[in-house]
Amino acid sequence: MNKFILYVFALVFLIMSGCSGEENIKGKSNSNHLTIGFSQIGAESSWRTAETESIRSEAKKRNHTLKFSDAQQKQENQIKALNAFIAQNVDAIILAPVVETGWEPVLRNAKKRNIPVILVDRGVIVADDSLYTTLIATDFVNEGRLAGEWIIKNIGTQANIVELEGTPGSSAAIDRQKGFMQAISSYPKLKVTQSQTGEFTRAKGKEVMEAFLKSSKDKIDVVFAHNDDMALGAIQAIEEAGYKPGVDIKLVSVDGVLGAFQAMVAGKLNCTVECNPLLGDVAFDAVERAVSGKKVEKRIVIEDRVFDQSVAKDVIESRKY
Ligand code: AHR
Repeated sequence: MNKFILYVFALVFLIMSGCSGEENIKGKSNSNHLTIGFSQIGAESSWRTAETESIRSEAKKRNHTLKFSDAQQKQENQIKALNAFIAQNVDAIILAPVVETGWEPVLRNAKKRNIPVILVDRGVIVADDSLYTTLIATDFVNEGRLAGEWIIKNIGTQANIVELEGTPGSSAAIDRQKGFMQAISSYPKLKVTQSQTGEFTRAKGKEVMEAFLKSSKDKIDVVFAHNDDMALGAIQAIEEAGYKPGVDIKLVSVDGVLGAFQAMVAGKLNCTVECNPLLGDVAFDAVERAVSGKKVEKRIVIEDRVFDQSVAKDVIESRKY
């Protein structure tokens, strides 16, 4: 009998502690531990790897559980992952959306279940922006503009430019192109002669650059690549075609990864516009605030800087990604 009473007490205790644990997560009163779903785009670039690492290590540092899902560049995989996170009733979701459109139904689903969605790195287009909590990202339009302005200042106002675009439909590709075109629009002799997607990867950047070099009727003076990895691929293609990258054909890209700094020190890349992927700290601040019902700014802008060969050697040691 005594054993039975003890058993009942133990059971009641277990049930209550289980409930109050759940309560803490939902009410966020006593528990600091959260379970967060992170839907990442993939691993197409060194920038992306650095971003994943930043979010993973920050989750660990803060003692949160991170459920990680790699979408392999497919929006449908991201939507599946988000729905799975929602079904598991995670405390919050971090989403790096591969493309801008098509998110409404799944975001509505998250909102219905009261799960905050923190967007990192890329933006979405939705009619109702209450469907997500915040967007933490650099300003892609500004990055494109800075790349264009660097060309105007350092190369001049007459040049044939080829453009290696990022993933079609992604805010990173759309906005960088927009900013770049805005910057060069007053100079009719600065012409984008060819433009094609290299999907943000080094291999595709090389392949597209090879095709540009073969098919171009005009001399190619400058490559504008939407990210460093594609520029690094293009450098290989340029060398294999017998030209000197950085000299015969100048290259300007975006990201500021270590490989870009090495290429600048070697004189092969001319300029990179930084796009900081180390978003973990800011993302988890936003997650914790949202979960505990505090106000979160709708847009958190991470600052960009421009680096070129004139400073690459001095700063390369201090680079963190
Ligand atoms: O969305 C950010 C972009 O995505 C980075 O510039 C690129 O390297 C990445 O893959």
